[in-house]
Amino acid sequence: MLFKPTEAHEQLRAEIREFAETNIKPYAFQWDRENYFPRKEVVEGLAARGWMGIPYPKEYGGAGLDVVSYAIAVEELSRVDGGSGVILSAHVSLGSWPIFAFGTEEQKQKYLVPLAKGEKIGAFGLTEPNAGSDAGGTETTAVLEGDHYVLNGEKIFITNGGEADTYVIFAVTTPGIGTKGISAFIVEKGWEGFTIGDHYDKLGIRSSATAQLLFDDVIVPKENLLGQEGQGFKIAMATLDGGRIGIASQALGIAQGAYESCKEYALDRIQFHKPIAFQQSISFKIADMAAQIRAARMLVYSAAEMKEAHEKYGMEAAMAKQFASDTAVKVTEEAIQIYGGNGYLKGMDVERMYRDAKITQIYEGTNEIMRVVISSYLLGKPPK
Ligand code: CAA
Repeated sequence: MLFKPTEAHEQLRAEIREFAETNIKPYAFQWDRENYFPRKEVVEGLAARGWMGIPYPKEYGGAGLDVVSYAIAVEELSRVDGGSGVILSAHVSLGSWPIFAFGTEEQKQKYLVPLAKGEKIGAFGLTEPNAGSDAGGTETTAVLEGDHYVLNGEKIFITNGGEADTYVIFAVTTPGIGTKGISAFIVEKGWEGFTIGDHYDKLGIRSSATAQLLFDDVIVPKENLLGQEGQGFKIAMATLDGGRIGIASQALGIAQGAYESCKEYALDRIQFHKPIAFQQSISFKIADMAAQIRAARMLVYSAAEMKEAHEKYGMEAAMAKQFASDTAVKVTEEAIQIYGGNGYLKGMDVERMYRDAKITQIYEGTNEIMRVVISSYLLGKPPK
């Protein structure tokens, strides 16, 4: 499938760009420095415009737009601030989507509607100290006792952790049978025994919140089981397929922001009696960046189109995430090189973007895991 932008997509892009340029860009460096979560500025601002639930149907409080529109939204926020981009991405793709796709009607009314309206923030708790890339190694447990489960364990590196109201949490309900023993639960902030641990002091995406979640005998009503018992791992994997489109969009936006910034600088900066943009060493860098960003954009939007069309898109989402994140790291690094010493200074967009870009190669599946996913689609499982 090949992406073709529509007028509606470009109109939405213009509106989100205007929002981001006005409400985020002037403050992005300050938020980065202060590790500030922009609830009022970003979350409430997006909610007021109906953008916290972009791809969900209007009857569930969403905007009723397509997956490409969602990708464009994350891209445009990330073009000025990668932290703001992942607040939306983790909320829409990870916190809300599993409830949309696997929830009962009651669960959708109770949890998805306020999430899609942006009245509540969503998060997703899969990663644990001993279950990172090997998500099937989940150790958190949920034991059924009458009409409720008792949840115990620890989740780490949770995006929107502490700020979110609604968490989709994965726990072992049947020990000893591997991934088929994992189930998913909807857990609310504030329930007894559910506490927020460390807030991480990160290299980048510092306007987003990332925290540890601790569960100590948390009572989870049986009706908060998401999907069937034992279906949790598949729910997590299917959710991450979509999440990877979000992270790919974030990476694309970061790369686009750095590219525009260093191009403008290169046209402005005079050395050897002409703008450095016209030194071949610089013009070739700009050409390479533009080509890589264009290729990343095609991968991202085509994976989004496939998801929208209900085609199998797991491989394409992994390819988009891997390629766009590698592009973001390469482009931001070259952007600093074009800026020279100026780009190495705190307060310069490209310095922050370089730090923000790095995480896109790591979270929602490292790029090594992306290659595991892609190659298993291409080659099948290795012989036993
Ligand atoms: N959709 C639906 N089902 C899937 C699936 C998918 N995309 N991928 C696998 N499954 C199913 C398989 O079909 C299999 O089912 P059966 O047992 O019925 O055959 C089952 O799940 C187990 O699959 P595998 O044997 O392939 O599982 P595995 O243990 O070998 O793991 C893996 C595969 C791809 C490495 C997986 O563990 C993985 O994706 N790891 C990375 C985890 C990850 O991305 N973590 C990110 C955390 S979230 C985050 O970062 C959020 C944030 O802060 C922003």
